Order: sequence, then C-alpha cells, then structure tokens
Amino acid sequence: MSNAIEYANVPTQHSYNGQVFPQIVVNNDGCKTVEETVTFIQQNQAELEAQLAISGALLFRGFPLNSAETFDIFSAGFGYANFTYKESLSNAVRINFTERVFTANEAPKDVEIFLHHEMAQTPISPSKVFFYCQSAADEGGATPLCRSDKLYEALKAENPALASDFAEKGLKYTTTMPAADDANSGQGRSWKSTLSVESTAEGEAKLKELGYSWEWLEDGSLRAVTPVLPAVIDLGDGSHSFYNQLIAAYMGWKGVRENPSSAITFGDGSAIPKEGLERIAELSQQFTFDLEWQDGDVALVDNYRAMHGRRPFSGERKRQVLVALVAAER
Ligand SMILES: [Fe+2]
Repeated sequence: MSNAIEYANVPTQHSYNGQVFPQIVVNNDGCKTVEETVTFIQQNQAELEAQLAISGALLFRGFPLNSAETFDIFSAGFGYANFTYKESLSNAVRINFTERVFTANEAPKDVEIFLHHEMAQTPISPSKVFFYCQSAADEGGATPLCRSDKLYEALKAENPALASDFAEKGLKYTTTMPAADDANSGQGRSWKSTLSVESTAEGEAKLKELGYSWEWLEDGSLRAVTPVLPAVIDLGDGSHSFYNQLIAAYMGWKGVRENPSSAITFGDGSAIPKEGLERIAELSQQFTFDLEWQDGDVALVDNYRAMHGRRPFSGERKRQVLVALVAAER
C-alpha cells in the first residue's frame, strides 16, 4: 500500500496565508482496515501535526471507520492523552460509548449550538477535539469550524480597544447547573454530574479547589462563577485566538442576549458591551467553514485555534456525531 498523504479540496474551503482551512486528507485506497489506517496515521504523524498546527483543522475522508469502536481505535492511534467527559466540567448532556468516545451534544435537532472553543468557559479544557460522523443528517447538521485567530485579528483591526480589553481583563462566567440532568437543553447537565460528586459538601470542595464562587438556588440548582479565565490566548507563533465562549453564550444561552452580564463579564466584573458581542458574532461568519458531514468522516480540530458549533438539522435520519477529546499537555 502507498503511504503518502493525499489531500483533496472542496469548493467552499477557506485559505489563509496560503494554507487551506480545513486541510482534507483522503484515503488513497491504501487503508482497507482501521488497523491499516492507524499505521498510516503513525507513519505520517509528523506531517499531519504540522498541517494541523497551521490549518487548525484536518478532515479525514474515505477511511474505513463505521462504529464508535473503530473511531476509538482511530483516535487512540495518535497516542494523545485522553480527556474524559466524566472529569470535564462540560455542561452539555452526553452519552459515553467507549472509554474515549461520547456523543457530541444531545440537544434537540432544531437547536443551533453556536461557535465555541470546547470548555473554554471552565478552567480545564481539551487541546484537541476529534469528531466522527457515524451518520449524517438528511438535511443540515453541518459542524461550522471558525478560525478564531483570524477572528481576533479582525477584531483587533476594527476595534483595538475592545480587543485589548478582552486580552487584558479576561472573563468570568456564571453558569447555573440544574439539580437533575435536562437533555432538552444544550447545557443541561446536573451539578452532581458536572462536578463528578455525590453531595453538596463534595461539590463545594471541588468548586473551591477550582477557584469558583457559588450560591445554591431555591430549586436545588447551583449558580457558580468561574475564576478569571482568559478571553484571548497566545498561540506561540505570533497569533492569538479568541479563546472563550462569548459567541455561544451571547447567541445561544438563555437570557444572555438581553443581559450579557447574567452569564459573562470581564474579569474585573464590568459589563461587556452588547454591540461588541453582536459585531463579533457577525465577524465570525467570515472565518467559518461549514463541514458538511459524510458518513465515516473524522475531523481533528485544534481547540486552541478553531472554534466549532452545530447547525440545526432535519429529516428522518438520525444525525450521530461522536467526539473524543485530547487532554492538554500544559
Ligand atoms: Fe463543543
């Protein structure tokens, strides 16, 4: 079998500084099994990682993956440390298929999940995200991928004062975690599940350790405020990304558009101007590629450089996109 990487192009692909986004790797028919695919990955890992570092996202198309198990083997083939859903502070309700693999988000199909960096609203976030399309929707259901570094560059050019406020002040997020899982919400994971604890005392100890402040509400839910988290991070190559959850929060979290401070403020507690958030959401569209899934596709996304989301979908076919997360090295 031939082991050279074969790249493909699609008409909607973006290009930044001469590098396509996302980079698309196709099976040149050399890989007939998932084991051969892993061998191919390992033989070409240095080149694939170099492409990922520049592009921010790789799409693998036409490889012999057809189940959560084969996706598990594929994603494990890179040798990265696993970031488990259980130990994450993600507030999305998800279902585990294997140790590494779980559903992307169980929110209903008409709900759009807006652009975000995975778990950037918590102190512990993954460095990379693998997505695997087990079954594409009849209509819609693309995964938008946005070059966050390009977005920040554009914001800086257009509104340097706001861009530097984000970089210098950071952000604080307020989240309310329900007493019980609510699968009908994009962020309905209970506080016990989110914090991996059994009691209020354990929950409080965990929050304290992570630097949160909190209050218990009458209905048994928990309102927690993060320590100051970055809004912008340095990618180490002269670029910076807009590493936060602002677009998803502003566009999709309940009540945030009306009152952004109910969910996010600058790190010093001051309010983020609404017009700024509106403009950032608008600007982000320029740097967004819609990944139209085909069954068996895998995307590997650099969670520091690219944001992702989920378009609404319709039709009889069950859209099933599974995820495996990679722990940060730092
Ligand atoms: Fe996500």
